[in-house]
Amino acid sequence: MDKILVLDFGGQYNQLIARRVREEHVYAEIKLFSKITIDEIKNIGYKGIIFTGGPNSVYDPKSPHYDPAILDAGIPILGICYGDQLMAFMADGKVSSAENSSEYGKTEVFFDNTNVLFKDTPNSSICWMSHTDYISTIPEGFKKIAHTEKCPFAGMCNEEKKLFGVQFHPEVTHTVFGKQILNNFIFEVCKCNKDWKMENFVESSIEKYKKELAGKKVLLALSGGVDSSVAAVLLHKAIGQNLTCVFVDHGLLRKNEGDFVEKTFGTGFGINLIRVNAEDRFLSKLAGVTEPEKKRKIIGEEFIRVFEDEAKKLGKINVLVQGTIYPDVIESGNGTSAVIKSHHNVGGLPDVISFEEIVEPLRDLFKDEVREVGTQLGIPYELVWRQPFPGPGLAVRVIGDITKEKLDILRDADAIFREEVANAGAEKSTNQYFAVLTDVKSVGVMGDARTYGRTIVLRAVTTDDFMTAEWTRLPFEVLERSSSRITNEVKGITRVVYDITSKPPATVEWE
Ligand code: XMP
Repeated sequence: MDKILVLDFGGQYNQLIARRVREEHVYAEIKLFSKITIDEIKNIGYKGIIFTGGPNSVYDPKSPHYDPAILDAGIPILGICYGDQLMAFMADGKVSSAENSSEYGKTEVFFDNTNVLFKDTPNSSICWMSHTDYISTIPEGFKKIAHTEKCPFAGMCNEEKKLFGVQFHPEVTHTVFGKQILNNFIFEVCKCNKDWKMENFVESSIEKYKKELAGKKVLLALSGGVDSSVAAVLLHKAIGQNLTCVFVDHGLLRKNEGDFVEKTFGTGFGINLIRVNAEDRFLSKLAGVTEPEKKRKIIGEEFIRVFEDEAKKLGKINVLVQGTIYPDVIESGNGTSAVIKSHHNVGGLPDVISFEEIVEPLRDLFKDEVREVGTQLGIPYELVWRQPFPGPGLAVRVIGDITKEKLDILRDADAIFREEVANAGAEKSTNQYFAVLTDVKSVGVMGDARTYGRTIVLRAVTTDDFMTAEWTRLPFEVLERSSSRITNEVKGITRVVYDITSKPPATVEWE
């Protein structure tokens, strides 16, 4: 299979670059510049390399650099933004900084469209720029292939060595011919074949695991989320009853969710499924706890204990399957970031339970690819396109201490909200939407009597990556119907409010 390497110099769009390549059915993988040597690059046999952007200036002593011998390795390279400047710097060109040369946003770029990189583009087009430094002298052996009003070398190439650089970002949609330019690099320069297809992935994975896991006892923690569901069905197709899935129902799931998971995977797919009803264990551990991080820690730890107890009952297990996906694997070039919330997933399991082997069948896939695999495997639409649901479940949506009564109130309100969004066909306009039960009580009036009940918050967000999010402008009618139904149908709720905060400054979840 042909592969493109995305060499990460800390750019914010590194995942986007890899996805753009994969959308063209060519496999691309991201490696942090400091984590792969030139010999490894040569041995893997990449058909091409893309140097990503990055926040630094090439003259900054702390800026990321790479062995200049890479330019003579005989592998085509496309440098983007910082990657372009770095290439110029490595080949003895000159990079300068001038306040009046910086460009940010949509900029008209003039192309030399006789050059292969700009094949089938017009003479000029709008591109996305975001730079202060610029290449003031291109290196020997290179020629100019694009410019803007301010930037003399918005594109350069060394045809003989197949080295290309662009100052703008072809991977973002604001660059009108960006897709064409990337495709020219992948197909015209690197001569890649389109051999990365999800149906091939499904078939080859099933074959692979049939062989590799023959006769082994395999265990998977099924949450009912997209990733673990797809991993479960894929492995089930490969090894059938040698796969056991343990579904820990912690009592913090949405309305009817536990039954749905059991029905879909146990009855529907015929997977060997153990549902552990652990509501009491979790609720007693959580009783009286109000601090969000403490709740998360308790749930994470208890999850491991419950899973461990179940695994012990099963006797010898050889392999643990995890639903890790590619964005979990990529090491970002952006240093360390502060822990805002300790996210809970099953990543901590191998430390406490010993297995001979861990298998991660989805570790090369982006989320949209996982969904495509799910569809290929015949997993129901509503599961494949499910909105994200946090590992700690409704515990982070009941503000303050958690009781079964509060969880039931929240489950009912949340189900009504989801039903109304679905009835209005508004599911596609929002990426995540749910209800939160606050600990605020307020006065209401019902009939002629005073009421004093709880407040429900409705939250809906629009986002690509959940790192930042806008609050969704849901139709007022949806909000109105949800509010009226919740106050009428859910006992104890007197007030419904809509959360109109984006992330940042807020987070998606309330806790
Ligand atoms: P925040 O609240 O951090 O949420 O803005 C971003 C996305 O992550 C989900 N989320 C979690 N997912 N375990 C998960 O698997 C967690 O502990 C967790 N906490 C938040 C949240 O639902 C949103 O989609």
